Amino acid sequence: MFCRSILIAAFLPALVFPVHAQDTAPDDKRQRELVHMVRQDCGSCHGLTLQGGLGPALTPAALRGKPSEGLVATIVHGRPGTPMPPFRGLLDESEAAWVVERLVEGFPADGGPAPTQQTVGAR
Ligand code: HEC
Repeated sequence: MFCRSILIAAFLPALVFPVHAQDTAPDDKRQRELVHMVRQDCGSCHGLTLQGGLGPALTPAALRGKPSEGLVATIVHGRPGTPMPPFRGLLDESEAAWVVERLVEGFPADGGPAPTQQTVGAR
């Protein structure tokens, strides 16, 4: 009988990414963009004052006791089966973590859209 030995090397990299408290806060311009995005885009469902609408309130009182990892995951990946869409692509995980940190302490007011490189066609 011809036996062939098959070596299966199963290297499972035990990569554990710490989700909480990145010290790398987005820079000022990006922070303004994120605040604007949360007030406008998230506000369309969660209410302009984040008191709730189609989506639940995102106020400090409403979020108290909820693990921030779960909230960050909800923002990045959305909640399948609910209207909560994934925002992956619009913000990354550390930016979502920054947003969650701001939400649990009371979200800052929108200072207006951050200046962009966008130029309107000159005529
Ligand atoms: C199209 C509507 C919609 C938009 C836009 C939206 N959400 Fe949601 N969101 C929801 C709904 C609905 C839920 C509740 C999902 C459920 O039933 O579990 C939710 C849940 C959440 C939760 C979990 C709240 C909790 O108490 O567990 C967080 C955090 C959240 N959204 C943040 C955001 C942020 C931040 C944005 C913008 C980047 C955003 N959402 C944009 C509809 C929306």
